[in-house]
Amino acid sequence: MKSLPARPENADFSRRLLAWYRLRGRSLPWRRSRDPYRIWLSEIMLQQTGVATVIPYFERFLDRFPDLASLAAADPAEVIALWSGLGYYSRARNLHAAARLLMTRHQGNFPEELAELMALPGIGRSTAGAIAAIAFGKRAPILDGNVRRILCRLFALEEAPATAASRKRLWQWAEELTPADDLHDYSQAVMDLGATVCTPRNPDCGSCPVSACCLAYRLGRVSEFPVAAPKKKIPTARQLALVLKHRGQLLLRKRPYHGFLGGLWEFPNKILAEGEQSGDAAARMLDDLGLCGELRHTGEVRHAYSHFRLVAEIRCGEVTCRNDRAAERDDESCWFAAEVVADLPLHGAHRKIVDRLKGGGFTPGPAPTLEEAL
Ligand code: ADE
Repeated sequence: MKSLPARPENADFSRRLLAWYRLRGRSLPWRRSRDPYRIWLSEIMLQQTGVATVIPYFERFLDRFPDLASLAAADPAEVIALWSGLGYYSRARNLHAAARLLMTRHQGNFPEELAELMALPGIGRSTAGAIAAIAFGKRAPILDGNVRRILCRLFALEEAPATAASRKRLWQWAEELTPADDLHDYSQAVMDLGATVCTPRNPDCGSCPVSACCLAYRLGRVSEFPVAAPKKKIPTARQLALVLKHRGQLLLRKRPYHGFLGGLWEFPNKILAEGEQSGDAAARMLDDLGLCGELRHTGEVRHAYSHFRLVAEIRCGEVTCRNDRAAERDDESCWFAAEVVADLPLHGAHRKIVDRLKGGGFTPGPAPTLEEAL
């Protein structure tokens, strides 16, 4: 069998990539500055979210918190509110906690060393590498989803990338390919290559600057990499969500700050146990809240999280209170005028409830609007 020519040198990979980036690299807001604060913010926002979604959030966030000191001094609720809709909210809580640590322990300066960056909340090895390389020009490898996919193809990795052995090899390759100079551009070049050319589906190998270095390409097997991991079954949780109206106001509550979707607002709800009837559960919830009323089933919304799917069944109705403080048993529950509810930092699943109510898009049953129909 004819053997493949040896893979070109690592230096060849970075030289080709850098030449391509200088012609084709994307112009993105965080690339107009070397300010570590902006670079850190962009890297955190980009951790689980695409560039197009991040840009308006990045700009709004910087308008409100232009520097580390303003972020560190912020009310956590305001930070969460600015993050609302971007998902993965622990990123916002970690960002805020890290800003405070940077002010108190680092005199408001970003450390340049990987280990010190990784000691901050929300900064893992790849994000630390990106900050060190982009902000400080340090020789630090990165291994985000884009880079992982490129390396799986470049080296035709025959194992799923998430295994411990694969991760070790991928980090080693990432390290070996990282050049000695031009780190600011190299790190962004490799991410751009993954985002625009070496894409998950239909990679554009015809315009890839490093196809000559790519083992999968030379084997004609690009579509086989990365090797798929065995599919995990994602569980589905059934939720009952109550949209309760009293004198033109709706009841909402804020989730505990530390925890899943922490600090975001939602309608009163509960996860239904296997076989639990939502009508019975709704009656019990109303009773616990000190409220009375007839609720009607008004449809459902679905929302996917990384580790489970949620199907929220909605019951709506006008309620009366058994006493003045009904439903406001804790500081985190509050009645809001119906027209301001959409402006609260709601989590995604319950924003869907508001959107559906506003659009009157529920089935079955009549099409209520948020203000009128409850
Ligand atoms: N994804 C993660 N970091 C990025 C960056 N700096 N530019 C573009 N995409 C990215």
